[in-house]
Amino acid sequence: MALPRGKGDAEQRARAHNRRRGSAEAGDNLTAEEKTTVARFLDIAVDSLRDNYRSGERAYQFSDDIPPGESAAAAPIAAEESAAAAPTAEAAPVKDSLEQIAAGVHSCTACPLGETRNNAVPGEGAGRPLVMVIGEGPGADEDAAGRPFVGRAGQLLDKMLHSIGLSRDTNCFIANVVKCRPPENRDPLPEERAACLAFLKRQIRILRPKYILCAGRIAAQTLLETEAPIGKLRGQFAELRVADMAVPLLATYHPSALLRNEDLKRPAWEDLKMLRAAITEDPAGGES
Ligand code: URA
Repeated sequence: MALPRGKGDAEQRARAHNRRRGSAEAGDNLTAEEKTTVARFLDIAVDSLRDNYRSGERAYQFSDDIPPGESAAAAPIAAEESAAAAPTAEAAPVKDSLEQIAAGVHSCTACPLGETRNNAVPGEGAGRPLVMVIGEGPGADEDAAGRPFVGRAGQLLDKMLHSIGLSRDTNCFIANVVKCRPPENRDPLPEERAACLAFLKRQIRILRPKYILCAGRIAAQTLLETEAPIGKLRGQFAELRVADMAVPLLATYHPSALLRNEDLKRPAWEDLKMLRAAITEDPAGGES
């Protein structure tokens, strides 16, 4: 009889399998998801005790002993019955990862932007960022390089971040709402943003940033689900709820706007100082 393959069933099978293995190893009766949760908690606790919360990077690769290529939700019952089918823990990807997301972005054809891009731009930066910076979408330079914010606006963004102790090399992750360049740098259409949003939400879920900084109107409007102008959205923290998280989100002007209009530099600087103050005052969010 065909067995249902829901996530709950897979977890139960994984638990049963791990119990039957009879190993004395601590944690062997946990599913991979539970082990990942425990490991993440312990990492955060250790980071906190060391006074440099979120400075480290770690990818968790626990396995429910399901053959490589099969997700936990789709694992066939035979996998737990057959010793021969049990693969090594290292070989079994059971959890979403930045690499999986990037692979999905690179092969994505969910909207027409996939037809005109040269390179998709998944994002880059620290694996456990203090701040996740979210822009609008790749421009010509980013489309050519496959990396976010590498043109003139990107250089300004790097300077802005640096001025408050942030950097994509150490404590920031930089991504965009849409991962492929809109032709002629037009605004990404609502349907293009909607088609791409799941990638961004998955990134947020994995990265678990302490703060989100929206660079510009499109990022702020998309994440806050509003049509309000950036002048109204900036200058105050909002809260973005993703999965079990409520991440403080600050919007500011896009660096391209600052390059076009000098008058916006002062309010943008006020926003950056506000972010810096929040980080510094947050007992768990400060850097070492
Ligand atoms: N503008 C953006 O919004 N994102 C980039 O990656 C580059 C320019």
